[in-house]
Amino acid sequence: MAQNPSSTQSFWIDSTQDVSTYPNLISETFNDVTIDVAIVGAGMAGLTAAYQLAKSGKTVAVIEAGAIAAGVSGHTTAKVTSLHQLIYAQLLKDLGEEKARLYAEANQTAVEFVAQLVEREQIDCDFSRQTAYTFAESADQLQSIRDEAQAAQTLGLPASFVTETPLPFPIAGAVAFSNQAQFHPRRYLAHLARAIAADPSNYIFEHSRVLEINEGEPCQIVTAQGTVHAKDVLVTTNLPFLDQGLFFAKSYAKRSYIIAAPIEGDRAPQGMFIGTGEGYRSIRTTPYQDRQLLLIGGEGHKTGSDEATEERFERLEEYARSRFGVRDIAYRWSSQDFVSFDKVPYVGKLTPMTHHLYVATGFSLWGMTNGTAAGLVLANTILGIENPWADLYDSLRATPFVTADSLKNNLETGIHWVGDRLKALQHHSFDEVAMGEGKLITIEGKQLAAYRDETGQVHAVSPVCTHLGCIVNWNAAEKSWDCPCHGGRFSCQGEVLHGPPVENLEVYPVATTETVSTR
Ligand code: FES
Repeated sequence: MAQNPSSTQSFWIDSTQDVSTYPNLISETFNDVTIDVAIVGAGMAGLTAAYQLAKSGKTVAVIEAGAIAAGVSGHTTAKVTSLHQLIYAQLLKDLGEEKARLYAEANQTAVEFVAQLVEREQIDCDFSRQTAYTFAESADQLQSIRDEAQAAQTLGLPASFVTETPLPFPIAGAVAFSNQAQFHPRRYLAHLARAIAADPSNYIFEHSRVLEINEGEPCQIVTAQGTVHAKDVLVTTNLPFLDQGLFFAKSYAKRSYIIAAPIEGDRAPQGMFIGTGEGYRSIRTTPYQDRQLLLIGGEGHKTGSDEATEERFERLEEYARSRFGVRDIAYRWSSQDFVSFDKVPYVGKLTPMTHHLYVATGFSLWGMTNGTAAGLVLANTILGIENPWADLYDSLRATPFVTADSLKNNLETGIHWVGDRLKALQHHSFDEVAMGEGKLITIEGKQLAAYRDETGQVHAVSPVCTHLGCIVNWNAAEKSWDCPCHGGRFSCQGEVLHGPPVENLEVYPVATTETVSTR
């Protein structure tokens, strides 16, 4: 197991190195074959939908740009719960009781779907039932906690207001949901993948990035290695890389951070916890060797706004040490979610004009249950089965465009598009880039994103994001180039780490003489 706290590998991925066993797409396989459903993206929503469709007799091909369950689903805190911090009082106010009830039912049903699947198929994924809490440490947050407990009870959820929790520090109050769950998300999803691939008429491809999809009969799903033909296509790639639906303008990217530290079992709190407000901490434990691993998440912020990632990790580590007395930090990693402006996911058709292209996105940090519910909605849609949550999650609903949040977000995107172009003008030499640092510079009138690695070699790429042309920013803690507009991320060498972009940043050749660091 990795013990290097500077590693950005998530525990879920580090502990399941053996599950990524699927081949690249090989185009000859599909010369004369039309699959029923192609699923682009092998996370919670995609694999749930694929599993349901395969069980119902459809042939499926799951196509993943990286490894299975190694995107957002491999970087989550993996709470399987209908408790979503504070949401139900707001949903009641904004959407009314009928829709708020549907949201509650969709997510509570998702908890039970996962529980029953784990039970039925005896999935080895550290699944355990837990109480989930949203807690307030100060009395001024108590009313919102009480309101949430009241709203959740009204909607039929297993909620209560409590003044004590298993946390080792006092709280003012909490809303508690009983009989929720936690698990190891990648072991769970790896099982779904194995179950899908057990039928030789189904396919799972890893390391096969889809570059474009042409709707037709059949649809063409184009990768660099070849093309798949399918009657229907589900795009479950966090944010759809297809721009036609404008989902990048109906949601915003939010980064959050997790650290994990070994803790003795008798000091590990029983339950899953999340605080209130922007300074929240998300807390849970998971089995780890002969002890437990304490996960502390938080420091969430809109992508591109004051990254300062190193300090964010340090604050989480300090919290873990001061509140739980842990010493060593074994893991630290980050995640990126897309938040819809009304907090409800978008699931359904890509556009009103498309007939065979479907999407699921905007899980708003609660992808274990919202992603499961989305997978069930998409599978039912393909199978022609009425789904009670399809209208609530409808990807074509109009309201998100007119919220204050959406206007502010799109204004900020415009500001980044223009303002970030000026940043590179402040630096004009590779000498200004220190070892291990990335910087925007201008060389001979050309803007570059330059990174000097630990050997002194400079790697320079175009800073223009291949999605819609914003300028990338340097992420110092994770050593990546991040786009502030819609959350695209690239490696130091310009390779796509996270969509919506599908093309790498253009590489700028750097002369050997520039590869000797002066620092
Ligand atoms: Fe959209 Fe970069 S992710 S412009």
